Amino acid sequence: MSPTIPSTSPPPGLHVAIIMDGNGRWAVRRGSPRLEGHRRGADAVDRIVEAAPDLGIGTLTLYAFSSDNWRRPLEETAGLMQLFHAYLRKETARCVQNGVRLSVIGRRDRLPPEVLAAIADSERSTAGGRTLHLRIAIDYSARDAILRAAALAEARDELSRDRFAGLLAHATHAPHPVADVDLLVRTGGEQRLSDFLLWECAYAELVFAPQLWPDFTPADLQTALSEFQSRQRRFGGLAPAPAA
Ligand code: IPE
Ligand code: IPE
Ligand code: MG
Repeated sequence: MSPTIPSTSPPPGLHVAIIMDGNGRWAVRRGSPRLEGHRRGADAVDRIVEAAPDLGIGTLTLYAFSSDNWRRPLEETAGLMQLFHAYLRKETARCVQNGVRLSVIGRRDRLPPEVLAAIADSERSTAGGRTLHLRIAIDYSARDAILRAAALAEARDELSRDRFAGLLAHATHAPHPVADVDLLVRTGGEQRLSDFLLWECAYAELVFAPQLWPDFTPADLQTALSEFQSRQRRFGGLAPAPAA
């Protein structure tokens, strides 16, 4: 039987997804090792997570490590895994205090055991959070997630968009399906998706920010949200007729 996906109502508010890019360049520009950029990137995560609920964000999905990032030197990937471990161990209590539900999406079969244990503890302790759903994508590939979800479907006639979104959640270890992304922000100046949330971003508004991730501030996120508010979303329909 294909999996039953529990559904829990998410916190109200926008779903914002962020491709947190530019840590390496931030460090190289200062003559520091790339890992220093990742460390400073973790500080930027703290600031953004803290600001998110007041900016009207209910779900925040952060791209922390793509499945293709395993191509980087072992020193960097191992350093990043240590950083995720430390982040989860350090931030869980604060998440509980602030009503933040933390979940990690992506593959779980290639993560070091201490990271897996920290994920399990964080997810368990923060499960009651209703102020913000913080989703951190680690060893995540949207194309692989789509393939795994397709493999979970038993029969083609059971597939609908909603049902597939449920399978996709299951395939990425998400606790429940989330609403489509409203706004996708990528920092660091590059303008590409790099295999992030391809299904969920079908009608996302895209904002590309020049700042490198460690420099990205809540004010920059506010600027991206103002840009989002000025866009007209039509979802394939027509713009509303101007008032007579
Ligand atoms: C994003 O920063 C973080 C990860 C991919 C882990 P990068 O490490 O890609 O930074 P740049 O793009 O090299 O500057
Ligand atoms: C995307 O950034 C992944 C994360 C930010 C975690 P990359 O730096 O890996 O993407 P490319 O290689 O520039 O497309
Ligand atoms: Mg990059």
